[in-house]
Amino acid sequence: MHTQTLALVAALASCALANTDNNKVYKYVVTFSIDGMHGSDVEKYIALRPGSTIASLISTAYEYTDCYTSAPSDSFPGVAAFVSGASPRTTGIWYDDVYDRSFWSPYSTTKTNCSGPPGAEVAYDESKDYDSTEVWSGGINPANLPQSMIGGKCTWTYPHQRIRVNTIYEVVHASGKQTAYTDKHPAYDMVRGPSGKGLSVGYFPEIQAFDTTNVTQIIGYDQMHVDAWLAWIAGTELVNSEVQEALTGIPTLFGGNFQAVSVGQKSYGYLAGSLDFTPELLGAFDFVDSSIGKVVAALKAKGVYDDTLIMVASKHGQAPIDPKLYGKISQHIFQTDVGVPVDFITTDDIALIFLKDQGQLDQAVDNLNGLRNTLKISDIISGERLVYEGYGDPTKDPAVPDIIVAPEMGIIYTTSTSKIAEHGGISQNDRVVACFASATNLKHTVFDHQVHTTQFAPTILQALGLDPNALKGAVAEGTRILDGF
Ligand SMILES: *[C@@H]1O[C@H](CO)[C@@H](O)[C@H](O)[C@H]1NC(C)=O
Ligand SMILES: *[C@@H]1O[C@H](CO)[C@@H](O)[C@H](O)[C@H]1NC(C)=O
Repeated sequence: MHTQTLALVAALASCALANTDNNKVYKYVVTFSIDGMHGSDVEKYIALRPGSTIASLISTAYEYTDCYTSAPSDSFPGVAAFVSGASPRTTGIWYDDVYDRSFWSPYSTTKTNCSGPPGAEVAYDESKDYDSTEVWSGGINPANLPQSMIGGKCTWTYPHQRIRVNTIYEVVHASGKQTAYTDKHPAYDMVRGPSGKGLSVGYFPEIQAFDTTNVTQIIGYDQMHVDAWLAWIAGTELVNSEVQEALTGIPTLFGGNFQAVSVGQKSYGYLAGSLDFTPELLGAFDFVDSSIGKVVAALKAKGVYDDTLIMVASKHGQAPIDPKLYGKISQHIFQTDVGVPVDFITTDDIALIFLKDQGQLDQAVDNLNGLRNTLKISDIISGERLVYEGYGDPTKDPAVPDIIVAPEMGIIYTTSTSKIAEHGGISQNDRVVACFASATNLKHTVFDHQVHTTQFAPTILQALGLDPNALKGAVAEGTRILDGF
């Protein structure tokens, strides 16, 4: 009886949703990650700038005010979640600089191919480039790639071979349509997906060629992404693009990120007390806003704006928002304090610990528990809890860390002297990010219950008239289409 009632309610609910859902098929989807932008920043910015592009986009948007990015919330798993519809346990993408028990170090450092016992750092950042001091770094030097066995063969493993499930770029491209993407390093090759074929055009100027603490310089860097989007709307690609096939018109799916807000937060942040933006951070938001305005204007000039869905979801937030919560703990003290030998520790505003001997887990956790006050630890996740909370099983999956240490909000494990905020962790400030879907046919609707950035991936495919079930990771995790679609 109870089950029947529930089934009836479910049927009525889905019927009601079907009647009100936005079923329009769009010709184009444009995605922006405003790296660092919290959910709370959206209302703050609109209050300050009611005439802004973001305010105008929101006026015809579905707005998701409790929207969570991946855990951990580093840029790399954040992008993987958005493009695949799945979390790190399914994508295998945990961080840009992390460890895998089944990998070997790059050929450029070992001069051997998958020899010796496996277990190696897996970094997919500027360290893969030929020369990361140059904006046009030469792209990925395969000798710098970590090695793994793929199909029984030692393989210098590109980021797109590291992600275990397909991506929206791959699905859209495989349907015969064109795609383009831009982000911080050539390592964002990852969005191409396991086939390596997901992008018609990639554009990956190297951000490390700039001073990544300097908002002015990073606005200059972001401008290259803006120039790429404008070129794509004009149906062409910029020099230095990685081209699989030249664009023949506006790509069906294109996107990328902005870094200026993230740098504004790390170097200047929010004002104590009011939690208003500092002038530098507001300047970064204004740059992003006017840049999105240029993209919107270009789409309108092409006469395609009514057929375009603009998806904004940040791949990560930044912690803390409140500068009073900020505190720093040297990561080098931390490494010795696990108390047993470790293979690798990733630290930011989280620590991912890979033990040398998984049999010493209890001892390591005991040691860390004894240091809760010293290291300002708020949570230690390991063993069954990792499985139960959806992180995966480190005894079965070589990419899953043995221990996740979450510090108190605002604490960063770093030796950096400049930054006052960081991302990558699992706190609310890290994970609750700006998320909305805007198109001229939508009526502004606020969805204030919890959603996840993974939901954007299947929603984007459906909005383009493609099959959301084509996404293996989204299917594996049962990731649902966003409310309203
Ligand atoms: C390692 O593999 C690369 C690429 O297949 C090959 O060029 C190189 O000769 C190999 N080196 C050794 C020492 O096996
Ligand atoms: C940031 O970079 C700009 C342009 O290179 C430079 O003029 C400025 O002095 C730098 N600001 C800081 C705080 O280093």
